[in-house]
Parts: sequence; structure tokens; C-alpha cells
Amino acid sequence: MATVSNISSKLPKHETSIFSVMSKMAYEHDAVNLSQGYPNFDTDKRLKELVYEAMLDGYNQYAPLAGIALLREQIVNKIESLHGKKYDKKTEITVTNGATQALYLAITAFVNPGDEVIVLKPAYDSYEPAIKLNGGIPVLVQLEGEEYKLNFDSIKQKISSKTRMLIINTPHNPSGNVFSNAEMLQLEKLLEGTDIILLSDEVYEHITFDEAKHHSASAFPNLSKRAIICASFGKTFHNTGWKMGYCVAPEELMAEIWKVMEVNVFCVHHPTQRAFAKYLETPKHYLELGEFYQEKRDTFLNLIKDTAFKAIPSKGTYFQLLDYSEISNESDVEFSRKLIKEFGIASIPVSVFNKDQVDYRQLRFCFAKTNETLEKAAEILKKIK
Ligand SMILES: Cc1ncc(COP(=O)(O)O)c(C=O)c1O
Repeated sequence: MATVSNISSKLPKHETSIFSVMSKMAYEHDAVNLSQGYPNFDTDKRLKELVYEAMLDGYNQYAPLAGIALLREQIVNKIESLHGKKYDKKTEITVTNGATQALYLAITAFVNPGDEVIVLKPAYDSYEPAIKLNGGIPVLVQLEGEEYKLNFDSIKQKISSKTRMLIINTPHNPSGNVFSNAEMLQLEKLLEGTDIILLSDEVYEHITFDEAKHHSASAFPNLSKRAIICASFGKTFHNTGWKMGYCVAPEELMAEIWKVMEVNVFCVHHPTQRAFAKYLETPKHYLELGEFYQEKRDTFLNLIKDTAFKAIPSKGTYFQLLDYSEISNESDVEFSRKLIKEFGIASIPVSVFNKDQVDYRQLRFCFAKTNETLEKAAEILKKIK
């Protein structure tokens, strides 16, 4: 029997994400999978035990909407110790179902039909659909060149009376760039005197390398007063499948986010919140993450140094871009498909994140993998000439 007719899709052009496409192909061809952005090693056993203990202790009913007090307190203390900004644990924080939900709540709370939202490309793929679902208009600004540099003039040109929000992401997926202190100060200047809300996606906050340092929007008074900052425990504690994160924002903004949260999920998984509250009591659990991933990045870069791929070392995140322009003229989408089918290695073509799918002949590799997987990947990459 026919289903209901006249379905008017809210996302008529939405396609299956490149991550699903590449992972499916990787599976079919039994390829080494460096495409999707998550670890292939496990989260800390102690953290798993803490979730179980919380369940046994009876924390199995709804948590408060904003999250349990113990966890909110740990998070605001962490932000204060790292960035010097003291958020109010009662009114300025919400624990969410991963950063993706925090981003969606923020966009839904503030973007009205016809509002413009500036998105810096290449960008994480949930931003634009979330804007469109709320009737907003994504206004795309490409980060420049093969190193994806910020150009404040290009952003300024796109600011109009309809601009409601600007979305930034640092450390940046997929480029591995990290905004500098000077860039954050320039951003502060750019937004001065406007009513633009800054949505700052900081999910890779603890993953920076060499001299690069994460500069949170919370550390800049003229940004934090307009910023909703989103973070992810999944990225920090190697458990992306738990989908836990949070956002912080000034009280007036958070009050609007709560209205959406209440009708969206009301609250998130209670025992996991207990576990994170306890685990965050030990700051080394997140302070040592940069070092941990720097070792992975260096191992990967060292293993591939004699290949025909060129790399500018990633400054942050767990992604490394590799340039294959000396190997092939094929588009990055074609080339990445070929690497899966003919060589058995999966990556992500960067053009899919870019404005107008601009193609710099680059592929994104995730190095949040065991050393054994990285070695296997390097053996394959050496054969590609
Ligand atoms: C830039 C960026 N933001 C947000 C997310 C999603 O975070 P979560 O898994 O906590 O929803 C990701 C995941 O890949 C990401 O790369």
C-alpha cells in the first residue's frame, strides 16, 4: 500500500554522509579504516566501572535538565582553571547528548526563519542541516588556501543585518588548524558592537600539538559574553558512542537553550553523568590527552615520511591531511574511492567539507588508532605512487 503522499522534505537535498559511504565501502573491501573520526581503542576501564557503579547505586531515573550538580561543578571548575572564566554552575551550563545535540540546541534556540548563520568551510557536517531545519540560511565562507587560513575581511563582507550567528570550530576538523590568540582577538574585534551570537565548537579542546595552544572563546570577555561553547566527552575520553557533552553560555542565552532542551530530551543519561563527575576529579585524565595524541600524530607522520603523500603536520584534533597531488590528478572523491577498492585503505576526501566542493587534492586521515593500525596504514600508503 502507498505511504502518505505530499511529503514535503525539510532537507530535500540531504545525502547519506560521506562518513557512512566511506565506512560502508571500507567494510565491503576489508580496508584499513582511517576515515571515521573515532578511536579504535577502548575507553578507560575505570570509567566504565564508574558508570556501572552509578547504576548499582540507583542513579537510574531522570537527571535534572541541566545535568547533575556534581558534574556541572566539575566542568565549570575545569573551564576556570584552564581559561580563567568562571561560569555559574546553576545557570550557565547544560550537559547534553554529545556536542552534536548542544550545537543543535543552540541553533534551534536562536535561529529564526530567514536568519543568516555564517559557517566557515570546511565544516563539520551537522551545522548546515541544523540551520536549514530551523529555516535559517547558511552563509558559507571558505577558509583560505590549502592551509585553511582565516580571512577576517571575507567574514566581514558576509555580515549583514540578518546575521544571527557565526559558527567557529577550533581545533579544526578537518584541517587540524588551531586558531591563534591573535586570531581570537581579531574575532573579538570583528564581532564588537554586533548582536551576533558566536557558536564555538571546541570538541577537540584538549588535543593540540607542539607550540599550538587551544584558545577557548571563554577566555575572551567580548567573545564569552555572546558565546555558546560546545564540548564533547566522547572526543576527550575515547567513548564517542556514549554521546555525552555539554555547552556553556551566559545565563540569558542558556535560559533559551533550556526551553529547547526541555522539549527535546529533557535530560541525558544519568549514571554516565555520575561517572564523568567522578572521573573529572583527576585533571590528568584530560590534561594528558594532547601528549597522547601528539605521539600518535608523530608516529603516523614518521611512518609515512617516505611515501609520495605530502603532509603539513596537524596542529590539533586527531586528523592529518595528506596531499596526493604528486601521485594523481584525480578528484579527491575518485582517488579516495580508488584507495579503498584497489589498495584497501579508507580516508575522507576533504572537498566534501569545502564550499563549492573545492578540491585541493587532499585526504583526511584519522590517527586515533592503535599503532598496529597506523603501521598497517603506512605499509599501504608506501605502495601508492
Ligand atoms: C567538529 C566536530 N564537532 C562536533 C562533533 C560531534 O561531537 P559528539 O560526538 O560529542 O556529538 C564532531 C565529531 O566528529 C566534530 O568533529
